[in-house]
Amino acid sequence: MCGIIGYIGKQKASKILINALKNLEYRGYDSAGIAVREATDIKSVKKTGRVANVEAEVHQANLKGGVGIGHTRWATHGGVTEANTHPHISSDGKFVLVHNGVIENYQSLRKYLEEKGFDFKSETDTEAIVNLIAYHYRKEPDNTEDRFTSAVRKALIHLEGTYGIAVLCVDCPNEMVGARNGSPLILGLGKDENFLASDVSAFASRSKDVVYLNEGDIVHLHSDKYDITTIDSRNVSAIVESLDWDIEESELGNYTHFMEKEIFEQPQALENSMRGRFSDDNSTAKLGGIDLSPRELRSVDRFVMFGCGTTWHACLAAEYLIERFARIPVEVEYASEFRYRNAPISDDSLIFAFSQSGETIDTLAAMRESNRKGFRTLAITNVVGSSIARQTNGGGIYQHVGPEIGVASTKAFTSQVLLSSMIALYMGRLRDMSLGDGTNYVDALKSCPEMVDRILKQADSIREIAVRYSKFNDFLFMGRQAMFPIALEGALKLKEISYIHAEGYPAAEMKHGPIALISEDCPSVFLATSGRIMKKTLANMQEVKARNGKVISIVPEGTEVPKECADDVIFIPRCHEAIHPILATIPLQLLSYYIAVERGCDVDKPRNLAKSVTVE
Ligand code: M6R
Repeated sequence: MCGIIGYIGKQKASKILINALKNLEYRGYDSAGIAVREATDIKSVKKTGRVANVEAEVHQANLKGGVGIGHTRWATHGGVTEANTHPHISSDGKFVLVHNGVIENYQSLRKYLEEKGFDFKSETDTEAIVNLIAYHYRKEPDNTEDRFTSAVRKALIHLEGTYGIAVLCVDCPNEMVGARNGSPLILGLGKDENFLASDVSAFASRSKDVVYLNEGDIVHLHSDKYDITTIDSRNVSAIVESLDWDIEESELGNYTHFMEKEIFEQPQALENSMRGRFSDDNSTAKLGGIDLSPRELRSVDRFVMFGCGTTWHACLAAEYLIERFARIPVEVEYASEFRYRNAPISDDSLIFAFSQSGETIDTLAAMRESNRKGFRTLAITNVVGSSIARQTNGGGIYQHVGPEIGVASTKAFTSQVLLSSMIALYMGRLRDMSLGDGTNYVDALKSCPEMVDRILKQADSIREIAVRYSKFNDFLFMGRQAMFPIALEGALKLKEISYIHAEGYPAAEMKHGPIALISEDCPSVFLATSGRIMKKTLANMQEVKARNGKVISIVPEGTEVPKECADDVIFIPRCHEAIHPILATIPLQLLSYYIAVERGCDVDKPRNLAKSVTVE
């Protein structure tokens, strides 16, 4: 949440900062601002609302300087006002700062600083940081060589909470200082220019050499050099990594929304997630990122999987797949609950964190807690070099689906389910899944992109259904077994982008309460993919119809759905159970996307949400 960018170089910083903020806007879009060094002063421009609002003002201000910082905000402390918009300036005017994170002890710091004569103009926690830096700077002797960095370091020692910051000092025209603790911060190295950002997308078009800063790192930047130290003044030797980034992947192209683009990218995204990950004899998966031997994996007696939101739904789908095909118990937890629950876990459990961004603070904290307790931890993440990817002690699996920019997760979810299915296959084959069953399973996984493509070809008819149902304000989503997590995901997708109330249930649970909601004003979406329980699910649909509820059903091709069971039927290809959850997800994504578009919602930037949730 919140995106920060810093630029130091010879180009016009304001232009580079605005472009960077557009790429970071998915992290928060309550307000945005930049500050640029101009001659002897630092000038800032801020606006509530989208980056586009501040862009117009920046254009008018005609800032020419080559050093600046920028911020796009997801409000935590204080409302959406210009006063609370970053960058924040110290009350003596010496420092300007942008911040991503939450300072928990800001009230006591603020009180202390007010007593020392500092004025506060906003309600934010951030203003305490910038004033604390100014306070320590004042106490440093004038001739201290690294007075700027030293003041930042001394201030950071007193902070409790999380931060990724970029700071400018009026007295140091060609310098910038950044630091991180709990919030991501990446250094981008260019020719005569350097960058600091919450996410590489902010500078990937100009720099491909990056340093992922570690917790507690402080970086002192010039346009042509940098040095990194720890908060306790130890030197850090930086590891420069090369970005594998195709800029077109983060552009909209011919699509109207990123969510639409990402839905339609799924055949390719799934292909990329699987590439190179099958054995030569085509009978099992190869998961090279996992640093555990087959012997160690054989002794795993339980998986504990956690994530948040959509990613938690992927964990639930993994539970069904792994228990069904590998016969290993799986426990699924909300990362935010797991961290504090102190659940008893056997020594032979394997902990698996799921996170598209790799930065979700609850998931990161749960992972750290598991590491602290000495468990083997692994992760499925999409973002290479992300905090979660770097915190595992047993390796992990990268999704390779390219940047997911739409706030509503689509391709990252289906890829996580696909990789879970591959884990089920791999673990099953280490145990009692036969070679023949393994080969059929691999064939099914390989056919998945083509089958998803076939469903996407029905987009026009799904749009037509969506338009007819777009006026309803309540929906139920129901599915049994592995379709239950997909029902939850369908409900979440709809509510987050179109603000329609929706709930997901195991279909048989309907009679235990939710049936009270059924009326002609509350349609139900039924996922009925499994032959074994098809008849029972059809009976559940009939129960809804008998109460005047409308029903949309999603069933395999060739299924006879009697008129008295459903008003609308969407067919998905007949397939192996291992890919049912993936295929059933696609029509739900399309339904919610088209309903949201029909209702005129801001699909890629739904209200109150942010893509990467880096506050607890
Ligand atoms: O980056 P992560 O996968 O850790 O994100 C987890 C959730 O915040 C995320 O899935 C959220 O629920 C999305 N808005 C879902 O569309």
